[in-house]
Amino acid sequence: MKRYEDLSPSLRCIMTPGPVEVDPRVLRAMSFPVLGQFDPEFTSIMNETMEMLRELFATRNAWAYPIDGTSRAGIEAVMVSLILPGERVLIPIFGRFGHLLHEIAERCGAEVFVLEKPWGSVFEPEEVIAAMETFKPNVVAMVHGETSTGRVQPLGEIGRACRRMDALFIVDAVATLGGIPVETDAWMLDAVVGGTQKCLSVPSGMAPITYNDRAEAKLMTRKRVERGIRTSDVQPGDLSFVRSNYFDLGMLQDYWSPQRLNHHTEMTSMLYALREGLRLTLEEGLDARFARHILHEKALVAGLTAMGLELYGEPSCKLTVVTCVLIPEGIDGESVRTLLLERFGIEIASSFGPLKGKIWRIGTMGFSCRTNNVLRLLGALEAALLRHGFEVFYGLGVQAALDVYEENVR
Ligand SMILES: Cc1ncc(COP(=O)(O)O)c(C=O)c1O
Repeated sequence: MKRYEDLSPSLRCIMTPGPVEVDPRVLRAMSFPVLGQFDPEFTSIMNETMEMLRELFATRNAWAYPIDGTSRAGIEAVMVSLILPGERVLIPIFGRFGHLLHEIAERCGAEVFVLEKPWGSVFEPEEVIAAMETFKPNVVAMVHGETSTGRVQPLGEIGRACRRMDALFIVDAVATLGGIPVETDAWMLDAVVGGTQKCLSVPSGMAPITYNDRAEAKLMTRKRVERGIRTSDVQPGDLSFVRSNYFDLGMLQDYWSPQRLNHHTEMTSMLYALREGLRLTLEEGLDARFARHILHEKALVAGLTAMGLELYGEPSCKLTVVTCVLIPEGIDGESVRTLLLERFGIEIASSFGPLKGKIWRIGTMGFSCRTNNVLRLLGALEAALLRHGFEVFYGLGVQAALDVYEENVR
């Protein structure tokens, strides 16, 4: 019989745009005993998680809870519950994850209108608003922080326009929640999806979402209670009900409400992890956490540029938590990444689509976003580049980052 070794994953320094390193306190929470899903101890953990999510999303929405599944499960739940087949959906795309929204909207049977921006930049709000005036969408869906290009899209003006034109505004804040401000109410976002494995530093496997009364009113007209647990025969008309059982937010909301109407079996250990990740985030304080992400980005960028590397993308819309670096001419980017991983235990990311082989993407997110990680990466990258024959200005990268940290102490 084949024998399998004890599982013993390496301790890595993960500087990608997710998944990132997880705080040991979150890992500890995952090892706590399992509770039954209707045990009052467990339902009070569910309620506390909702409360903390409202604070994180900066919202007074009644509904803020996690969807079980990776971040795209949250996106899919929101879209499949809020988009009726045949509805008009506008998707402004500025990177890979905008294409994911397009893909999901098509699968919802929507009439999709796409606006595209060259990768590396974002939209002027007026461009999106002009398209809304022409296309008259029922729903606008957009990414806040694009991890594929390291850009951030301002959302406030678009949110106001959506409210004025009575379109629902769905936002993918998977990469930004917990790292930079996500102002659900102030920006008039109707439904927002976050991620756990990025700035919250919880393993992948849940997607926190929130939505307001406007969204709730729409999805409640489409809710169809599962046959085995129905107490009423009145269900939505044949064509309008939500086509997914797992992602029907109307049913999920019943499960997260005091009714606790059974749906799926909640992921106990993941919920412990999320609750602990949220607790640590709020304990740090959102403003302090955002400031920490800005500081380490500044040190990283100072180090990379002092070393002689060039950043990718329009600087005015750079996403704090993802830094994209142009791979120097003649350097094999994958070989550098392999050396970093195998010799230094550091992971940085490659890239997709039109940027494949052209940039590295470095994340400074959540628990991974720390002084020692940034300095370690800069030192290791310098060594790896020298090893690959690239003339770095050696010694300068780490020194420039140290200067940033010292200035910050003063
Ligand atoms: C901006 C953004 N949206 C959506 C996703 C999809 O998330 P998941 O892979 O957790 O389903 C990602 C993942 O990297 C992302 O960066």
